[in-house]
Amino acid sequence: MIGIFDSGIGGLTVASAFREKLQGYDIVYFGDTARTPYGTKSPETVISYSLQNAEFLISQGAKIIVIACNTASSIAAGAIVNKFDIPLFEVITPAVNLSIQASRNFQIGVIGTRATIKSNIYEQKILQANPNARVYSVACPMLVPLVEEGWFKRPETRMIVKKYLHPLKVRKIDTLILGCTHYPLLKNIIQIKIGKRVKVIDSAEGVVEDVKRFLKNNPKVDGTLSKKEDHKIFVSDITEQFEKTAKVTLKRNVTLEHITIS
Ligand code: DGL
Repeated sequence: MIGIFDSGIGGLTVASAFREKLQGYDIVYFGDTARTPYGTKSPETVISYSLQNAEFLISQGAKIIVIACNTASSIAAGAIVNKFDIPLFEVITPAVNLSIQASRNFQIGVIGTRATIKSNIYEQKILQANPNARVYSVACPMLVPLVEEGWFKRPETRMIVKKYLHPLKVRKIDTLILGCTHYPLLKNIIQIKIGKRVKVIDSAEGVVEDVKRFLKNNPKVDGTLSKKEDHKIFVSDITEQFEKTAKVTLKRNVTLEHITIS
């Protein structure tokens, strides 16, 4: 199984890309809905939750893990690598690579949770790839709750997105990284507010490509992955709202299984 986790709904945008682009593979998804959001928590807490999440996915038969959360990717990837002997994929590196490929003038904007922006990981990785790039980052803490509420098209959401993107518009960025897996669900509004000339980067397809490449080069690991098109979604708290938003995100009915994690 391919194990995927996020703090909640956002990682379903990544799980959905796996379903479409890596067909046949079994997926076990865990959304830590009881403890979401991660983006406002301390690094110690995000690390401890992420280790528990990885352990849970492994107990369910995951043979590779995808951290479908920028916050956990930026803060906890190292801790997971140190503790578990399992191939691990995160969403920061593919987003950085896609932005470097897409950018013409290397004025790159990044939006993410407070924790991701504070970690400075995007700026570090982009500058490693191109020392002449300019990176402008904005934390957008109100976007995750708007997505979790399913406020995808509300005028209030449009107004808040516009306000967050204003400093990036002023800088005339040509590429914008969606540095949070919740944000692809607001991609239409974000694209309109930042302007159609700006290339908006979502890490989902990039991370699927990373995994595909890895499996091609590591047929032994590929052989350990079950392929019965079985997709399981576990959450640490079941709410009506999560079920609704999950349906919209995956464009189909979903059955959620509840687990207690601690
Ligand atoms: N979806 C997550 C991310 O990519 C985190 C949202 C949160 O829990 O704050 O950062």
